[in-house]
Amino acid sequence: MNIALVRQPIVEVQAKWLVVGIFEDDAEPADGLQGSPLEETVRRLTSDKEVTGSLGELTPLYEVAGLAAAAVLLVGLGPRSRFDSGAAFSAGFALSKRLAGKRRESVAIVLPRAEEAQDVASALIEGTIVGTRGPGLRKTEPNRHAFGSLSLIVGRSQTDDQVRAFERTLVRAEVVGHAINLARDLVNTPAAEKSPVRLAERISLVAHDAGISVDVWDEARIRQERFGGLLGVAAGSDEPPSFVILDYQHGGDSPTLALVGKGVTFDSGGLSLKPSASMEDMKSDMTGAAVVLAAIQAVARLGLPVNITGYLALTENMTGGKAMKLGDVLTMRNGKTVEVLNTDAEGRLILADALSFCVERRPRRVLDLATLTGACIVALGMKIAGLFGNDESFCQEVQRASRRTGERVWRLPMDDDFKEQLKSQVADWKNVGGKWGGAVTAAKFLEQFVGSTPWIHLDIAGPSWADSDSTTRDAGATGCFVRTLVAFVEQGVESTGRDQLR
Ligand code: BES
Ligand code: MN
Ligand code: ZN
Repeated sequence: MNIALVRQPIVEVQAKWLVVGIFEDDAEPADGLQGSPLEETVRRLTSDKEVTGSLGELTPLYEVAGLAAAAVLLVGLGPRSRFDSGAAFSAGFALSKRLAGKRRESVAIVLPRAEEAQDVASALIEGTIVGTRGPGLRKTEPNRHAFGSLSLIVGRSQTDDQVRAFERTLVRAEVVGHAINLARDLVNTPAAEKSPVRLAERISLVAHDAGISVDVWDEARIRQERFGGLLGVAAGSDEPPSFVILDYQHGGDSPTLALVGKGVTFDSGGLSLKPSASMEDMKSDMTGAAVVLAAIQAVARLGLPVNITGYLALTENMTGGKAMKLGDVLTMRNGKTVEVLNTDAEGRLILADALSFCVERRPRRVLDLATLTGACIVALGMKIAGLFGNDESFCQEVQRASRRTGERVWRLPMDDDFKEQLKSQVADWKNVGGKWGGAVTAAKFLEQFVGSTPWIHLDIAGPSWADSDSTTRDAGATGCFVRTLVAFVEQGVESTGRDQLR
């Protein structure tokens, strides 16, 4: 898909589809329409309430006189006062999902005015790219098609500097949009086609293409490295585990950010077997790993001057004859022992080893992403991730990045009394706490393996997956938090840049 910035009055835009955003309850004519033949049409449609401008509303108009474009798609943007990157991403997704159902030669989108113009433009184009790709990976007839060309129309009034900024934003949006689709594709892939070893191979290919160094450990190496948690979980599967280390070092002597991803390619629950309905979507239990890969791929393709490492713990959680039994004790990478009282609490076991190993290498900060607990979905619903951390300023910076992208997080407590629930009679820890506060006890478990390194855990069990289809979202994998991770890394680059100028 060829993506370009166009600086032209909308009447002259020669596209098969011209997309125009409509704000809800807005007295002003839609941005870019002033004086065009569309202005009157849109005014009539909105005053008759045929078009309301609610977020994701879609109204196609054919053969509008006086336009070079063949057809117009009006897309609702929601209220102007609430138009942010989150809304822009949804609007982009909605228009694109609608148009991508057929092959489209050329689509041109009029950029709506917004305060954070660059963030919003990026999100709009990211959403558009994401909407051209659906979950139907194994359909015999593809039902989504990338556009031949995609243009973003900015007003004639933009200065040359602004235009250059939008051009950079387009490059960024294209990279980030494709990274999100990479994560979604990996998560939407059936578990039978992404055994840990095969997934590691795919990850290596992506990393090589993006100029990221990659090291893949096989089972023997994982044993040598004493990853008792990862081996314990993998024991129930015929498929061996894999551990992948990604390394992107383009930041000179600046400190390293480590990203750790849960990569359970299928979570049956193990002997603490899940009921069938809860198991249906468990190919998505490797979202953390997919998102870490995608974010580092985007950072590398953007050539950001930073040092980032990624640690991906890949395994199945199955019920084979050698599976962990309840009451078994694992010796973890850091030498501590864990009594397994629920084999379905497997994520924390593999992350514990990955985190221990990662902090041995002394990164400045560690952030892990994991579809860790159903309890986090009970607490926050399907669209908000739980954020846990041991470092105030790190948490605030990630919260700030999440506000910039509209991907929502909510901080949950880390009080020490939750840790009491994890004490075992037999071993140092047990892998489950009591009945309540399960997202917190899981995070407290992980905390035992990061030492004093500033650390954040994002429980993405809810937002990683959409149960149902809508105009502004696809069912299935969402690729959540790729955008926020990239924004967080960019934020760090911007602030060090400023420090150097001072
Ligand atoms: N992968 C699941 C968590 C999950 C649940 C992700 C639903 C997405 C949707 C995780 O491994 C798990 O099974 N957690 C258990 C923990 C419990 C046994 C302490 C859970 O949440 O039930
Ligand atoms: Mn589980
Ligand atoms: Zn799991």
